[in-house]
Amino acid sequence: MTGASSGIGAQCAIDCSKMGAKVVLVGRNEERLQHTLAQCDEPDIHLIVSYDLINAEGMPLLIKGIVDRMGKISGLVNCAGVSTTLPINLVKKETLDNFFDTNVYSAYFLTKECAKKSVIAAGGLSVIFLSSVMGHVGENGKSIYSMTKGALVAGMRSLACELAKKNVRVNCISPGCIVTPINAHLPHIADPEKRAALEALHLLGLGQVTDISNACIYLLSDASRWVTGANLMVDGGYTAK
Ligand SMILES: NC(=O)c1ccc[n+]([C@@H]2O[C@H](COP(=O)([O-])OP(=O)(O)OC[C@H]3O[C@@H](n4cnc5c(N)ncnc54)[C@H](OP(=O)(O)O)[C@@H]3O)[C@@H](O)[C@H]2O)c1
Repeated sequence: MTGASSGIGAQCAIDCSKMGAKVVLVGRNEERLQHTLAQCDEPDIHLIVSYDLINAEGMPLLIKGIVDRMGKISGLVNCAGVSTTLPINLVKKETLDNFFDTNVYSAYFLTKECAKKSVIAAGGLSVIFLSSVMGHVGENGKSIYSMTKGALVAGMRSLACELAKKNVRVNCISPGCIVTPINAHLPHIADPEKRAALEALHLLGLGQVTDISNACIYLLSDASRWVTGANLMVDGGYTAK
């Protein structure tokens, strides 16, 4: 579970532990990972790994270390991500590179390592990418974020085709707006008027982290054994109109 130190990833880690999973909690901030771990069922059976996912070269060793300590892997939830609202005239190539490194390449290269025969658990592997409604529709200033989230949906479908024969399912969850540290400081949430306008765009109001952890649990479990290459919109109706 990447992004386990905050927001959606933290809730997914906690709820997966409550469903009986042994969870590897990945993020950079060890203190916040410990905070998530403390809320998990049976904290002693899980593992915390502090790792900067920008470092793609270190991933073979990262996954080998995890398998050595925890056994083979049955689920990978790529929850780590960064967001911004930035008009195109302020975007530099380094900004774009940083967003693709964090939001796309990290998930892609982790999937590459986890989809190795020596790593996949006997019952197969379920991989989840966290996209966003912004991977499907547009908003002012969201071009960088949208490009990264759209790339995940596009890549997910081809990976599902390529990896099915190895008993690996690959799916996306595309959330609408859920207030977490990723967006709490951004104008569309921090400004009360803008927040009200955003709420009105979601037919069911803004979401909660458990709305996404429930979707994760479904896609990780055998209840979704016949689901691959799918994108699950969990957006309170944001994209229904
Ligand atoms: N919240 C929403 O409304 C929303 C909507 C649609 C999609 N999403 C997607 O859902 C995912 C989770 O979002 P969130 O709202 O839970 O965000 P969040 O609360 O800001 O958490 C982001 C997580 O990503 C981790 N992370 C970021 N850069 C990292 C790096 N280089 N290496 C390792 N970990 C890194 C952070 O861990 P450290 O700080 O410990 O490194 C943190 O655990 C993201 O992919 C986001 O794009 C969110």
